[in-house]
Amino acid sequence: MTGDDQREQRPSRRNVLTSAGGLLALAGSASGGLAAERPTSGSSAGAAFWGTHQAGITTPQQSYTYFMAFDLIATKQTEVVDLLRSWTSTASRLTSGQTAEPLGTNVDAPAADSGEALSLAPAQLTVTFGFGAGLFSKDGVDRYGVAARRPEALIDLQRFNGDQLVPEASGGDLSVQACANDPQIAFHAVRQLAARAYGIADVRWAQSGFLSKPADGETPRNLMGFKDGTHRPAAVEKVVWVGAEGPDWMRGGSYLVVRRIRMALEHWDRTNVGFQEQTMGRHKYSGAPLGLTHENEPLRLDRNDKDGNPVIPENAHVRLANAATNDGAELLRRGYSYNDGVNFTAERWPPWRQGMEYDAGLFFLAYQRDPRTGFVPIFEKMAKFDMLNQFATHVGGGLFACPPGMRAGEFVGQRLFVST
Ligand code: HEM
Repeated sequence: MTGDDQREQRPSRRNVLTSAGGLLALAGSASGGLAAERPTSGSSAGAAFWGTHQAGITTPQQSYTYFMAFDLIATKQTEVVDLLRSWTSTASRLTSGQTAEPLGTNVDAPAADSGEALSLAPAQLTVTFGFGAGLFSKDGVDRYGVAARRPEALIDLQRFNGDQLVPEASGGDLSVQACANDPQIAFHAVRQLAARAYGIADVRWAQSGFLSKPADGETPRNLMGFKDGTHRPAAVEKVVWVGAEGPDWMRGGSYLVVRRIRMALEHWDRTNVGFQEQTMGRHKYSGAPLGLTHENEPLRLDRNDKDGNPVIPENAHVRLANAATNDGAELLRRGYSYNDGVNFTAERWPPWRQGMEYDAGLFFLAYQRDPRTGFVPIFEKMAKFDMLNQFATHVGGGLFACPPGMRAGEFVGQRLFVST
């Protein structure tokens, strides 16, 4: 897909007014209320929701995400199933540009939809659901009768070197990743889903993210100023989708590793560009592998300089991340930048400055068919040796099993609860 394919097409005003789901303002109705549906028309009607796989995994990346993790507080399996049913139907409506539920005209009751997306197009909205280990058992208790069906690949991730994960940005029994080309649409979607979880699941943590795409279709840059997203696995489908090796209810699904990675931007900005490039293993402005000219040239890790040293250093990020140095391990990155203001930080490097620093960085999202052959081997080594570690601290994260897609009428994860 090219950048052009990803570009959202907005409905014309005429379409909005005449489409079946167009805005029907009932000004002056007896209740003074508004019976409204959101504008939808052809190509603006969000990404496809029903299908073999959940959308939002290999879907071309939208410009914004809003991610939320939940703790289940339900005591019965039926409550969880009801929630997943409700989430599925709500998400299918939202991605096609409708309100979460049809709006009524009764002003003496809370609205069925919070309303901030009325008259906005769905902006390629995708909603992707995931299940954390706590859905299967928590504190040794099989709360919902599915403990025996926990996939082996849904491991408890070990603590990696340098990890500073805090509970308020980690874990969760359920996850929702909403992505759209409009931040208000992404937030709106999660907000409607969270509202339907009251009494069944509590909000645990949330993260918003953005990815600004250059108009010329160039690779977007992260907050370190480097092109990020150049390399993509050649066989994406093989890397991402669970196959016959997984339990039947996960086939066609994927495992999501999320990490909230704070960047030491003040430190980075006072670092020479040459050292930044050695750290990444690529040139900053062109994005080309060190010593080469074009962004999309292969890394050619075996190149040495005249002194016999590797052109791309042994502990450069791209070398440590590359499949060739990880026994072929690969994953599909789908990360976003985040920017949550400033807070007090004690730097971990000389001169150990203390003060208000940016709480900003990379909200790393990566999909793979099994984290044991994806994220874990790659990051285990990276966490120990990557030069980038002096500029990056993992402060939150989680692992979620994202079930396969659904046929219309099914709910997400149905085959986990109902054997076919
Ligand atoms: C703040 C943290 C990070 C930053 C700023 C960052 C940045 C980058 C950049 C600039 C590239 C080169 C361009 C590209 O191919 O996209 C890259 C490549 C890559 N990164 Fe990261 N990254 C970070 C964390 C991670 C983590 C935690 C992982 C996985 C464990 C990871 C996996 C990869 C992979 C697989 C590649 C492609 C390497 C190849 O060329 O084969 N990155 N990253």
